[in-house]
Amino acid sequence: MKTVDLCRYYRRGPSEVRAVDRVNIEIAKGEFLGLVGSSGSGKSTLLNLLAGLDSPTSGSIEVEGVSLTSFTRRELAAYRANKVGMIFQAFNLLPHRTARGNVELALYFNQTSPPERRRQAIEMLEQLGLGDRLDHHPADLSGGEQQRVAIARALVKNPEILFADEPTGNLDHDNSKQITDLLARLNRQGLTVIMVTHNRELARSYTNRLVRMHYGRVIEETTDPLIPGGDT
Ligand SMILES: Nc1ncnc2c1ncn2[C@@H]1O[C@H](COP(=O)(O)OP(=O)(O)O)[C@@H](O)[C@H]1O
Ligand SMILES: [Mg+2]
Repeated sequence: MKTVDLCRYYRRGPSEVRAVDRVNIEIAKGEFLGLVGSSGSGKSTLLNLLAGLDSPTSGSIEVEGVSLTSFTRRELAAYRANKVGMIFQAFNLLPHRTARGNVELALYFNQTSPPERRRQAIEMLEQLGLGDRLDHHPADLSGGEQQRVAIARALVKNPEILFADEPTGNLDHDNSKQITDLLARLNRQGLTVIMVTHNRELARSYTNRLVRMHYGRVIEETTDPLIPGGDT
């Protein structure tokens, strides 16, 4: 996927905020991209655009040669539902549903039958080491466990790209490492991962490439061939 002069401006009274300003980046299949930059530099806005959750003011996003803006509503919904997964700093789990219920819900809109949703949700949670937490509600899980449920919810749709917006921002050091190790493992299995992070250490030791944003623009791209794939 790549962006071409991608812009997202917000109007604020008489002025405008250039949250994403003429960004041109290319994301290769299978890479683990770190997105860094100070607070307010446009990282979340860029991620939301790439995930099809927001529309650009101008410019485009091309996925396999086709512009997202040319997608019909139905095609865009299918893109969001099947091609991309997203995880957030605050986990964003539904509090009244169990771990299994949260993961099952991700399959609700793509015509999977209830027994099949149940089977796939259990299998994904087991793969992420949560087989003994299926019927727990988010409040009864640790932060690291909640983020793993959120990852299971994103992955159960078998997406091609996982967008992670500061996924370790609410976690302590050990849980941060565990979650980033998990993302690195998924990346080695072929998943493309785009991770926003404030944590320089995590960014440097795990990702293949770093993109730094400042006032909506990409100001630096670094590739470090010494640290491929995220093995530590
Ligand atoms: N919905 C919105 N309305 C107005 N301004 C926004 C909105 N969302 C983000 N912004 C502004 O866009 C800029 C980039 O925000 P954001 O993408 O959240 O940055 P980051 O994730 O790097 O902290 C900030 O100045 C922010 O205040
Ligand atoms: Mg943000």
